[in-house]
Amino acid sequence: MSAVIIDGKKVAAEMREKLAKEIEGLKAKGITPGLAVVLVGENPASKKYVASKEKTCGELGIKSLGYKMPETISQAELIKLIDDLNANPEVHGILVQLPLPKGLDSKAVMNRISPAKDVDGFGPDALGKLVLDEPGFVPCTPHGAMKMLESYGIDPAGKHAVVVGRSIIVGKPLAMLLLRKNATVTICHSRTRDLKAECLRADILCAAVGKARMITGDMVKEGAAVIDIGINVTPEGKIVGDVDFDAAKERAGHITPVPGGAGPMTIAMLMYNTVLSAKMSAGLALDF
Ligand code: GUN
Repeated sequence: MSAVIIDGKKVAAEMREKLAKEIEGLKAKGITPGLAVVLVGENPASKKYVASKEKTCGELGIKSLGYKMPETISQAELIKLIDDLNANPEVHGILVQLPLPKGLDSKAVMNRISPAKDVDGFGPDALGKLVLDEPGFVPCTPHGAMKMLESYGIDPAGKHAVVVGRSIIVGKPLAMLLLRKNATVTICHSRTRDLKAECLRADILCAAVGKARMITGDMVKEGAAVIDIGINVTPEGKIVGDVDFDAAKERAGHITPVPGGAGPMTIAMLMYNTVLSAKMSAGLALDF
């Protein structure tokens, strides 16, 4: 039996629609959500991601303030830019596109972003709140994965969730979010002894490693929900996930495609965090 395909584009479109209504309401109160997008250098993938983020801001009525900096920018100049954006009341969110060019200290730059504007949710304040189960900015990609599960009626409570990958921006926060929803969570990584055996126990299998098709069909339990967070380019130039989609979809109950799954959701959740930040700065709450 072939799996239900989780349509990330559709879930993202629904999220954008809800946000557009929220933004309309905010504008009526004289508040325009603002997102500063900082791009340093000429990395082609980063340029593409930034263009997509700015385009989505435009479509939703979020004011996007673009800062395209040369790769010769110094650490001190970049820190000064972050300080200015932290102090700018028009800016509710600050996104510094990663990776930064060699020679710049990404950690120092990211940690300089005010916790109140950390819409990527990569800083210690956001990640600490996630672990403490306190409200805060949730990193966009794992948040998008949770919204896709929710949208297809997949409740993690009591289920065994396996997250392959322990990155700070996806694997670890995703494991925390699944735990928050009462899943029993296993995190696998490069030192995991028997990855296949671990994956085969997963009712919800999430892959966030960055290795093309490393999760093969025989690693998927019959009926599992498979969330593929990898974006990889094959030698033939094809974009594929971390999961062998064609084989996995024959065993999974639900599966996200790449492209068209986690990718569109990431940008939608960045917009969500920006609107959330604008609302919080006005003492209002956002809850969907
Ligand atoms: N580079 C790749 N993905 C991301 C992301 O989600 N946020 C930022 N800031 N940089 C990235």
